[in-house]
Amino acid sequence: MGRRTFIIDCDTGTDDAIAIIAALYSKDMEVVALTSVNGNVAHQYTSKNNLNLVEYLKADQVLVAKGAEIPLYPRGNYYGTTHGQTGLGTITLPEAKIRTFCEDNAIEMIRKEAKKQKGNLELLVIGPMTNIAMAISLYPEIISEIKHIWFMGGAVRGGNVTTTAEFNIWVDPVAAKIVINSGIPMTMVGLDVTERAILNRDDEQRVRKAGTKASILVADILEYMFSRHSEGGEDAMMHDALALAAAIYPECLTCIDYYVDVECEGVYTAGHTMVDVRGKLGKKPNVSVAVDLDINKFKEWLIGCIESSV
Ligand code: RIB
Ligand code: CA
Repeated sequence: MGRRTFIIDCDTGTDDAIAIIAALYSKDMEVVALTSVNGNVAHQYTSKNNLNLVEYLKADQVLVAKGAEIPLYPRGNYYGTTHGQTGLGTITLPEAKIRTFCEDNAIEMIRKEAKKQKGNLELLVIGPMTNIAMAISLYPEIISEIKHIWFMGGAVRGGNVTTTAEFNIWVDPVAAKIVINSGIPMTMVGLDVTERAILNRDDEQRVRKAGTKASILVADILEYMFSRHSEGGEDAMMHDALALAAAIYPECLTCIDYYVDVECEGVYTAGHTMVDVRGKLGKKPNVSVAVDLDINKFKEWLIGCIESSV
């Protein structure tokens, strides 16, 4: 079987960047495009981070398209400090001088690639789902042409924005509801497993020792995450890289098929992924949900991907 083709839809912040780098150097997949969405930081930064990243790493085959600047149901300014002002913490990549954004926006990029790949296009969705929801709403014919959606988002239990909602879903619950109810085969990698996917200083030293441009960039991002954590912020959680692992190294996860839907309303519940773990609704499962993680396998795989960067 040839290499699988992916579009990565991302709100490129720190953990998105690590997932993108691992994907770029994975032998199992071809990243045809990065499509940006607002999320961790404003879209002006998430889009530029993608362009600067592909130029910095000379990923000349990877197209870069701009996507939605606000969610379907605008939430005002919710940008926190987790990823710093620009999304990559204290790291400043050289401004892209050669690469430019595609004329096609993210929605057109997804539509065209879905048709071009004739049912083989897979989507790694690691930010709010606004672009995906818009693409399948404008062009419902692509629903049957998207092979699988692998998304970081939601949780069986709890949340990291509210007591019940995870960030990617909370930012745009309407979009998430549209996508999760689309019928496209999908896998949900939520906080239940991603909050356990933590890298430490030994991992950072091993990555830095590889000494490549990509591995040093990952080590610098990890360094920022450690300093963030030392000041009371989030630890070096590989939320988005774990969603990538679900797609290309599923051996490190245990997944169970459940019926999932999204609650868009409620002070305490907007953005909640309802996972019917007891089958109480009697509805056909629509999502494969990651429920357990082998952290050692995941770390070995992720660090191996980054060490293999040239
Ligand atoms: O809740 C974690 C998710 O929100 C990750 O995708 C992180 O990058 C942010 O987008
Ligand atoms: Ca993300």
